[in-house]
Amino acid sequence: VIDIRKLYAQGDVFTFDPGFTSTASCESTITFIDGDKGELLYRGYPIDQLASQSNYIEVCYLLLYGELPDKAQYDEFSYRITRHTMVHEQMHNFFRGFRRDAHPMATMVGVVGAMSAFYHDSTDVTDEWQREVAAIRMIAKMPTIAAMAYKYSIGQPFVYPRNDLDYASNFLNMCFSVPAEPYKIEPALARAMDRIFTLHADHEQNASTSTVRLAGSSGANPFACIAAGIACLWGPAHGGANQAALEMLRTIGTVDKIPEYVARAKDKNDPFRLMGFGHRVYKNFDPRAKVMKESADEVLDLLGIHNNETLKVAKELERIALEDEYFIEKKLYPNVDFYSGIILEAMGFPTAMFTPIFALSRTVGWIAQWKEMIGDKNQKIGRPRQLYVGEAARDYVDIAKR
Ligand code: ACO
Repeated sequence: VIDIRKLYAQGDVFTFDPGFTSTASCESTITFIDGDKGELLYRGYPIDQLASQSNYIEVCYLLLYGELPDKAQYDEFSYRITRHTMVHEQMHNFFRGFRRDAHPMATMVGVVGAMSAFYHDSTDVTDEWQREVAAIRMIAKMPTIAAMAYKYSIGQPFVYPRNDLDYASNFLNMCFSVPAEPYKIEPALARAMDRIFTLHADHEQNASTSTVRLAGSSGANPFACIAAGIACLWGPAHGGANQAALEMLRTIGTVDKIPEYVARAKDKNDPFRLMGFGHRVYKNFDPRAKVMKESADEVLDLLGIHNNETLKVAKELERIALEDEYFIEKKLYPNVDFYSGIILEAMGFPTAMFTPIFALSRTVGWIAQWKEMIGDKNQKIGRPRQLYVGEAARDYVDIAKR
């Protein structure tokens, strides 16, 4: 690792690194990835242990404060999150300004960005207490906002959060309850939902997290920064891949069609890619995909969904791709988005809700990284350089002479 800053200050070096493939933008103590081993640690704890033994609220505490909470700390943190789940009543009017057929991610970018117009006591980034309140508010309100975006898109009344429910159950209830028939919360499903939140909670300097840090480096308020992160996450090469992956699996439809799509993915003249496959950092199995695959089997079993054609296509596609020279040579493995859509669809979510669920899960990671950045003594405004390849200086020509 070369620390280029001193050389740069002396005018000795200038690096060109499109896509930041080999540039560290910060130091961080939050998440560690070993892409060759397929290892992911939150504050040193392996993701598979956290997914199976911990829960999302505990993971939020860990990501934000660096250590697992004791019982009293856990209870207090959980209480604070629960007490902040409601959104300002006037935000309901804000939702109603959107078209019903808006993608829930479009609504979320707008609503989260607008939070700085509602919560004036948590926008001063120089004040530690305000930063803390903003963090709690964001984690608490994101499920409410995502559920409201969903309810609005299907023309149903908003469902208020309930303080007697845990984080995942509350989200499921806000999405699936209707006044005529309260949603029956199945604890095993809530657990699976919670696991999906945990698996997506942070992933070091990915595109959306880097966006949040870059926006925050100018001193922008946390709500504006998170809105920027949501916008970035939406793209199909990033969080939008979970929706794209399920749509791809449905398009493939049956296992006999898989070779045709694998051939297309390998054809350099065809823009088609296997969605949910490949990763900038993992050159081995994404450890989150492993947990997600097991969870898909469990959830479908629990819901009595047997012989699910999409899951069959996914597993066979994985098998064929992992034996194919092209995917072996390029080290392309299923990523977190490959199986998550199958679980979410089985739970009753439409594909348009997949990326909002990713966004609400990732909010804690964005906030933890944002807080870390503000506390970093090396923090500077993010300002990449460029290699200018345009015209040399030339004189203006009057329009009549062009
Ligand atoms: N299907 C077919 N070929 C692929 C795929 C894929 N899914 N992913 C990468 N490749 C090929 C590329 O064509 C390229 O081939 P080349 O060297 O012959 O040009 C090579 O593998 C390297 O790919 P890059 O795009 O250069 O790798 P990069 O690290 O920039 O991109 C990315 C990573 C964006 C995730 C890419 O693998 C991809 O587009 N995957 C599909 C979308 C997806 O699943 N995104 C979710 C990522 S995880 C997340 O954000 C939560």
